[in-house]
Amino acid sequence: MDIHNILSHIAKKKDITQEELCILLNLTEQKDREVLYNIGRETSYTVYQRDVYIRGLIEFTNWCKNDCYYCGLRRSNTNLERYRLQKDEILACVENGYKLGFRTVVLQGGEDPYYDDETVCDIVRGIRSSHKDIAITLSIGERDRESYQAFFEAGADRYLLRHETADRKHYESLHPDEMSFEHRRTCLYDLKDIGYQVGCGFMVGSPGQSIHTLYEDLRFILDCQPHMVGIGPFLPQKDTPLGGRTAAVEGVDGTRSSVLDVTLALISILRILSPKLLIPATTALGTADPKGRERGILSGANVIMPNLSPVNVRDKYLLYDGKICTGEEAAECIECLRRRIKSIGYEIVTDRGDHPDMMAHEFHEGGKRNV
Ligand code: 5AD
Ligand code: FES
Repeated sequence: MDIHNILSHIAKKKDITQEELCILLNLTEQKDREVLYNIGRETSYTVYQRDVYIRGLIEFTNWCKNDCYYCGLRRSNTNLERYRLQKDEILACVENGYKLGFRTVVLQGGEDPYYDDETVCDIVRGIRSSHKDIAITLSIGERDRESYQAFFEAGADRYLLRHETADRKHYESLHPDEMSFEHRRTCLYDLKDIGYQVGCGFMVGSPGQSIHTLYEDLRFILDCQPHMVGIGPFLPQKDTPLGGRTAAVEGVDGTRSSVLDVTLALISILRILSPKLLIPATTALGTADPKGRERGILSGANVIMPNLSPVNVRDKYLLYDGKICTGEEAAECIECLRRRIKSIGYEIVTDRGDHPDMMAHEFHEGGKRNV
């Protein structure tokens, strides 16, 4: 089947079959891949033109009670110096970000019980009381619905929780028994139900991933309808059980297409399936290829998440080996990104960057939901 036909078919139906996915992920000619990326990019243009939203990422704790087999922050990794930022340090990062033009901050951390519900709420309220116009995103893993509700009432607007994989067996091969496939999904549905803008996502090329598991990911995304989907290549971290594995997708000819090609193809496919979706060009993509984030944007991504964490902790948030942006000053980092984005004809905008279906007035002001 002709690639143009497949693409107009999935664009029209806003759905995809496993056979179509298999063809699109196995394009071996660069010119065919470019057709896919170009359609992804053009679709993004119809909603966002050449605007790129920025989110300031504050990695406030690298402690984690979980033991995911792929992740450098896992509790069994003793080869990592752990840190926690206190409220005043987090607020200082937010201030710094605000001055640099950020109107979204993402508080991200491992699952660290030190930050109990009240502590998280207090931090969220602290940010909200000084900045009414900033979107507050949390990314602190699985909690109870009541906790999510409390964070929301304290002023949080968005929540990022990658589903990691929508295939149960695959999930169980990447996580120890104590972690629950169902609970993670329940969290995402609860978050949406509470009223958060929600982001899910997955790695590309993690051990055991196949075209079929990726198809399950797309099915899950079409069902859950998140506002954002973050994807990036699996990058082995040497101190983890999967540290010796190479990224690959079963069913994709690895000698012809790299995991980077598959990631870019998936960005384009997600964009075509859901034109308004917020899709970040992730740090993992930028780590896998020096031009990875630019290539992500040129394939349909529209968000970048620069690091706003204090410089002295950056090299400690090592999800995977070789992570970029562990040195530069935040301000330098942003300037360099701005230039990079400009160089491909796009522009970083200072805006909350909400999903187009979520009107700004739907969000709380001063900690209260205002609908
Ligand atoms: N390679 C790529 N991404 C990773 N993540 C965790 N470990 C790795 C790795 N080795 C991703 C997970 C997690 C997010 C914060 O980072 O998807 O949800
Ligand atoms: Fe918890 Fe990775 S294992 S953040």
